[in-house]
Amino acid sequence: MKTIIEPFKIKSVEPIRFSTKEERIKILENAGYNPFLVKADDVLIDLLTDSGTSAMSAKQWAGIMDGDESYAGSRSFYRFEEMVKKITGDKFIIPTHQGRAAEKILFFIVGSEGKFIPNNTHFDTTRANIEFTGTEAVDLLVEVGKHPEQRADFKGNMDVEALEKFIKEKGPENIPLVMITVTNNSGGGQPVSMQNIKDVKQVCQKYKLPLFLDACRFAENAYFIKKREKGYSDKSILSICQEMFSYADGATMSAKKDALVNIGGFLSLNDDELAMKCRNLLIVTEGFPTYGGLAGRDLEAVAQGLEEVMDEHYLQYRIRSTEYLGEKMMDAGIPIIEPPGGHAIYIDAKRFLPNIPPQHFPGQSIVCEIYIDGGVRGVEIGSVMFGKYNKLTGELIPPPMELVRLAIPRRVYTQSHIDYVAEVIIETYKKRNELKGYEIIYEAPMLRHFTARFKPMK
Ligand code: F0G
Repeated sequence: MKTIIEPFKIKSVEPIRFSTKEERIKILENAGYNPFLVKADDVLIDLLTDSGTSAMSAKQWAGIMDGDESYAGSRSFYRFEEMVKKITGDKFIIPTHQGRAAEKILFFIVGSEGKFIPNNTHFDTTRANIEFTGTEAVDLLVEVGKHPEQRADFKGNMDVEALEKFIKEKGPENIPLVMITVTNNSGGGQPVSMQNIKDVKQVCQKYKLPLFLDACRFAENAYFIKKREKGYSDKSILSICQEMFSYADGATMSAKKDALVNIGGFLSLNDDELAMKCRNLLIVTEGFPTYGGLAGRDLEAVAQGLEEVMDEHYLQYRIRSTEYLGEKMMDAGIPIIEPPGGHAIYIDAKRFLPNIPPQHFPGQSIVCEIYIDGGVRGVEIGSVMFGKYNKLTGELIPPPMELVRLAIPRRVYTQSHIDYVAEVIIETYKKRNELKGYEIIYEAPMLRHFTARFKPMK
């Protein structure tokens, strides 16, 4: 088999600013050892997120010029709506400025004190938006998904038995909806199988609960289904996507991922009453229903991006380039979540730094070191992001995994950039015994990882 190449030519480039290791040591210190607080110009290869960081195509840029900026009834809205409907098959498509705006609207309407919303694993903004309404966000991931070193095809699956048990225990009347996140971002970018979506749907139907997809990376998930699930190898990506959405009653979407744009999102719904309530809230918080917090040009770019993201050459390149980084790291003995996920490689910080306990944030230590060593920016997904405190003792309650995510922006970096990233991380790994833990010296009450400041342990 020949090398899988980037399925595009480069028409426009953005220079990278180089910095020295000495400069980066100072920059990181000034940023409170939190790479979220480092200026992007001071980053060489930015793997902080795959969200809103895609390179748009010439056709998307053409769409930007062609966008119809009418306040109501914009032509760009109808193109966007038609494209989304083609994929989700839903009746109501409500544009929002990004994924969390869709979440905010949905959960504000369905959530309240004493309720529960299960998911395979909630993403942090989803959890925050749910918990903001007093509802409890519950993760019901299959057991294998909690073990980074265990390989399975669909480690993002929901534990269907646990879901049914949970519904019986809490009462279906206290569960406004069930969610599945495709792919499972917080659990390693791992896919969810079609069978699992079907099984969850069956349980939902039994208890008359709506099923929603958190669909940010729906096309990547569909590609994994095509490659790994029996009966799908001959199906088109579009038809696999359509089948995935056919089991759902609605979806929240951040177009900043699998719509290949820098801003945008939507809510896709079937229920007339819920759609009406969402639209009313949309008008108050986002905008009129035919633009919802976006410009007409943004809607054009989303419509075009949704078409491009389902191209099989694109998806083959996309999934392979993530896997390529994963393989390089595994070959060097670096512990990662296996197999590699769709949009990111997740370093298993517990095994990378067994001597640093969760209380001293091993993931943060890796994130800081790879920035210093090579100007590579990743993100901690562990006790900094998800750790809670015991209200009585003040002790940290760590999440099950301590991870560092290296998320790959779509169509942005070439193979040599990725080779460089692997070299930097391997260099850090070689001197892992010298790495130190961190202490938090400032934190916000919610979503603390964005603004927390740290101090290295002596
Ligand atoms: N759901 C999932 C699974 C996500 O990964 C994200 C965003 C959102 C919802 C919220 O979407 O950012 O458009 O408001 N994830 C980004 C990330 C931020 O880096 O993984 P948004």
